[in-house]
Amino acid sequence: MAARILSGTETGKQIREELRQEIQELKRAGVTPGLAAVLVGDNPASQIYVRNKIRACEELELYSERITPPASIRTEELLEQIGQLNRRPEIDAILVQLPLPSPVDAPRVLMAVDPAKDVDGFHPVNVGALVANRPALRPCTPAGIMELLRRHEIEIKGRRAVVIGRSDIVGKPLALLLLHAHATVTICHSHTQDLPGVARSADILVAAMGRAAFVTPEFIRPGATVIDVGINRIEDPGVAEKLFARHPQRLEAFRRKGSALVGDVHPDVVEVAGALTPVPGGVGPLTIAMLMVNTVEAARRRRGQSVPSRSGQMAAAR
Ligand code: GUN
Repeated sequence: MAARILSGTETGKQIREELRQEIQELKRAGVTPGLAAVLVGDNPASQIYVRNKIRACEELELYSERITPPASIRTEELLEQIGQLNRRPEIDAILVQLPLPSPVDAPRVLMAVDPAKDVDGFHPVNVGALVANRPALRPCTPAGIMELLRRHEIEIKGRRAVVIGRSDIVGKPLALLLLHAHATVTICHSHTQDLPGVARSADILVAAMGRAAFVTPEFIRPGATVIDVGINRIEDPGVAEKLFARHPQRLEAFRRKGSALVGDVHPDVVEVAGALTPVPGGVGPLTIAMLMVNTVEAARRRRGQSVPSRSGQMAAAR
């Protein structure tokens, strides 16, 4: 039987609709939460991500602005610009889109963001709060995945969770959130031995290593919940024919467009998993919804307001 599809598009929409009300109330009280997105250089994928983030702000009537220094900017100068954003009272939230061009000292830049405005949860102060399970801003993609699991009533407590990928943005923080929700968590990476065997022990398997269609059906315990964090564009017709051999509609779409997006999970996994996030339309839209949640939360916290509990788990994760 094919897996139940966990739509991030739908869940993201729900989260944003709930937030819309809260934002209108804040605005009636004279508060318009504001986000500054810093996009350094001209990485085309980053440009699309930032455009979508700004659009989401506009759609919810949040204040937003884009800061777009050139790729040649020196670290010191970028630190100065971040300092200015830190000092501006109407800016509640700052995100520095990654990756930064290689001459820029990325860790120094991320450390320069005021932790109270750090809506990506990348500052060491917020990372520390996450490790200690203290309230703070949480990285958006992991927070969105937790929200997706909760809203689809997928049990975490006591289950085995395997996270493939140990990035600071997804793998590590998500493993901590799952741990705090009482899963038994294993983190895998490129040096893990018998990766398919370890993955098969998972009730909840997260693929977040950035390799197209790497997680094949042999990685999956039948009935497991599979979360696909990868977004990979394929353009090679030979690769597409192999990947989509059992998915004629997707192959047809590839032939029409000349490219397709696939996750880190192979399309055939849908036949083995119990539940699966699609790509596109899975984790991506959740990341943006949670960025909006974090922007509102930062605005409230900066004004000493309590943060309403949208859900048990979101509250616990804060
Ligand atoms: N690059 C890839 N993912 C992210 C993210 O969640 N936030 C930022 N700022 N940059 C990213």
